[in-house]
Amino acid sequence: MPRVFKALEIENEDKEVMRDYLDRHMPHVLCPDEVKKGERFMIKVRMGDEYPHPDDPDHFISLLQLWNRETLLAEARYTSGVNGRKPTHIEIDFYIVAPEVSMNLSAMAVCTKHGLWQSEDKAVKVI
Ligand SMILES: [Fe+2]
Repeated sequence: MPRVFKALEIENEDKEVMRDYLDRHMPHVLCPDEVKKGERFMIKVRMGDEYPHPDDPDHFISLLQLWNRETLLAEARYTSGVNGRKPTHIEIDFYIVAPEVSMNLSAMAVCTKHGLWQSEDKAVKVI
């Protein structure tokens, strides 16, 4: 079982090098707090807030996944160089139809050098 790095209080981290490391590996789930049952809506998964992640041959983000609790909803795979071989905030927009019940979304990201990272949970109410 791989070690999973989870969302941390990055703003409370004193060391700049640690803030950079944590921030650039942290996926974020961006979507409405509330959606209508049966309607399609967009969920953006974005890497990092302040610090971009490299896109080097031996060090890049290879996978972004979107989960609803224990269910994998969607994923996107990348190869090195697809983001221009320079640091960037990789992001992808997923579109899903709102189910019957409220959701608890999260994202997972894989860095080829630094492992598996999990976002904070994002609660989405379905009305
Ligand atoms: Fe990395």
